[in-house]
Amino acid sequence: MTLHTIILAAGKGTRMKSTRPKVLQTLAGKALVKHVLDTCQAVESDGTVLIYGFGGEMVKADLVDYPVTFAEQAEQLGTGHAVKMALPHLPTDGKSLILYGDVPLTQADTLAKLVAANTDGISMLTLDVANPFGLGRIVRDNGKVVAIVEQKDATEAQKQITEINSGIYCVDNALLHKYLPALSNDNAQGEYYLTDIVKMAVADGITIATIAPEYEFEIEGVNDRIQLANLERTYQAHQIHALQLAGVQFADPNRVDIRGSLTCGQDVFIDINTVFIGDVTLGNGVQIDAGTVISNTTIGDNTHIKPNCVIDDSTIGAGVTIGPFAHLRPKTVLADKVKIGNFVETKKTTVGLGSKINHLSYVGDATLGADVNIGAGVITCNYDGVNKFNTIIGDNAFVGSNSSLVAPVKVGAGATIGAGSVITKDSPDGKLTLARSKQITIDAWTRPVKK
Ligand code: UD1
Ligand code: CA
Repeated sequence: MTLHTIILAAGKGTRMKSTRPKVLQTLAGKALVKHVLDTCQAVESDGTVLIYGFGGEMVKADLVDYPVTFAEQAEQLGTGHAVKMALPHLPTDGKSLILYGDVPLTQADTLAKLVAANTDGISMLTLDVANPFGLGRIVRDNGKVVAIVEQKDATEAQKQITEINSGIYCVDNALLHKYLPALSNDNAQGEYYLTDIVKMAVADGITIATIAPEYEFEIEGVNDRIQLANLERTYQAHQIHALQLAGVQFADPNRVDIRGSLTCGQDVFIDINTVFIGDVTLGNGVQIDAGTVISNTTIGDNTHIKPNCVIDDSTIGAGVTIGPFAHLRPKTVLADKVKIGNFVETKKTTVGLGSKINHLSYVGDATLGADVNIGAGVITCNYDGVNKFNTIIGDNAFVGSNSSLVAPVKVGAGATIGAGSVITKDSPDGKLTLARSKQITIDAWTRPVKK
């Protein structure tokens, strides 16, 4: 059996008050529609058709990396009309999941159950809710689904029904091909309702299956910035809950954001105002102090990140200490037991076992051996204004404070660089190298006096 996915994303999202289409607004740092597309991949969809309308060029440009077939719905004539736009791209056999670009958090597990529940042609996700106002109601007769009725078309009695239509279905493609061209727009809104396929199927003797999602947020859509922020909080709480149950300690679960995936070992402690972006992995016993932002980084066991650090695309060993106020830029690789102190910036740099860069340094395009000590204020001058060059520092070297290492340059193993040096040539192993003007004292000098 083939499984296609159809994503409705033609809505403008007027209430977002944005120049960008609604489905490109972000939740947990990722466009709403990308959450849906990632879920399509998780359910192993054989093909996704995305129905676009407003801002189609922006949507296409943002989704170049996704295997999506785009189908335009030039005029928004209703959900049934929108799905009809997908028909030329659907086989006549197999099934399709119908999803919404602005309903980002449906779980793949739920969709897999929905697909499995479709044994007679149509299955739907429905839910009993406290406030069903505005949503389509599931009309049942002796327990069997017979129709979906929209709020605006509902009788007073139907308005009392609390089982609502999520709008998410799994439908046999043969039925979509049969029913969609036959829809009419003879209803309160003058729209082609997708929901009308239910009564058509019932008339054909089909039994409609329903299942409920595990969580209500799985079927929640986003229409304005308030709903978006609320769904963001719900999602963050959900992710953090799972980590807490897995043993992670958060000082305050309301003051941490995970925009991607965070994987943690045992006895990890995460303080307030921390943000994790992309794929971040923390080993056992890692401590992340307040105010830190970490993206796409792996951190080894028992490493301590002190307050207010920014760490991007780096690999950090075990027993390392970083910060406060350190900036690790992409391709920083730190071996075990390294110490990076305050106001240190690294970039494309490998630091060997137990080496220290403790104060006020920029170290970029560099390779440092083990047990190196970089004094306060040392700078690798890696850029001549046009090209970048490398600095290599051997094991056990000591670079005195406020030295400039003008790359390309090598500092030998066990070498010592005198403080305040400007090193432009390779310095040999095990020797003291100085490059600065000699200190002199002028005996005859007197201070000027006021005229
Ligand atoms: C629809 C359902 C309703 C259900 C509700 C859940 C119909 C007739 N009603 O309501 O039973 O409870 O969803 O939220 O299907 N869209 C298009 N093109 C269109 C119309 C809509 O792409 O011509 C897209 C919108 O961008 C949105 C989604 O379809 O993502 C749902 O549209 P919306 O108007 O929010 O849903 P309703 O029709 O009110
Ligand atoms: Ca509508």
